Amino acid sequence: MSHERIASTFDEWAHSGRGENMEYGHGDVVAQVLDELSIRAGFQVLDLGCGVGWATRLLAQAAPGVQAIGVDVSPAMVAEAEKLSSLRIRARYEVGRFEALDFNDGKFDLVFSMEAIYYSPDLAKALSEVHRVLKPGGRAEIVLDCYQGRPSTEHWSEAVGLHLHVLSEADWEAAFKTAGFTSVELRHVLDRRGAGDASDFEPGRCFHDFASYAAYHDAGSLWIRAVK
Ligand SMILES: C[S@@+](CC[C@H](N)C(=O)[O-])C[C@H]1O[C@@H](n2cnc3c(N)ncnc32)[C@H](O)[C@@H]1O
Repeated sequence: MSHERIASTFDEWAHSGRGENMEYGHGDVVAQVLDELSIRAGFQVLDLGCGVGWATRLLAQAAPGVQAIGVDVSPAMVAEAEKLSSLRIRARYEVGRFEALDFNDGKFDLVFSMEAIYYSPDLAKALSEVHRVLKPGGRAEIVLDCYQGRPSTEHWSEAVGLHLHVLSEADWEAAFKTAGFTSVELRHVLDRRGAGDASDFEPGRCFHDFASYAAYHDAGSLWIRAVK
């Protein structure tokens, strides 16, 4: 899968408002994760695959003097992030690729990513870049909605039209260890809003019926916490 194909897919998402919709879809899980990140004053934070930058802005406001940078391969997502930004928030955005991060070694205290890293055309390279740009002792906090064994996610690659690395939890742990991380912890995070009401459910490309959506919901997102 080429970066051009990924960028054009997500440019379309940005133009059709799906970039902003993700704040609602991902918001509750990300809020729970951010609550536990213990971001300290002055932290340097990277948001990989920032989309329209809503999480980048939350990260930037987590403590005084935090500098958050969002990177995304989609120019339209980054343009939208810049439009939604405010000079009062210490966040900025760059068009870039996970596999060639334009930052010095050891720059960041924390690398965060929501629902993005598994689109990488070269996952091993992306993870080694995350490791490279982290300070010693720095943390990667990576959240994914689709992983092997989560019900109803088998068709996502097809539905999105892009290749996804749908790994088992053991394979994610091994991939982070191979990239050089010393400790890797995996957790599941459930959206506290629940699966909702069956009568409000509308079938779509990812979920054909309410039962499959409910099973997906009950498995939760995968949160990978890795220390350099
Ligand atoms: C599903 S969206 C998630 C966006 C955001 N994290 C959110 O939760 O709203 C995935 C994002 O990752 C970006 N992305 C995917 N592969 C990438 C790569 N190899 N390098 C940089 N960005 C990439 C896409 O352009 C897209 O904006």
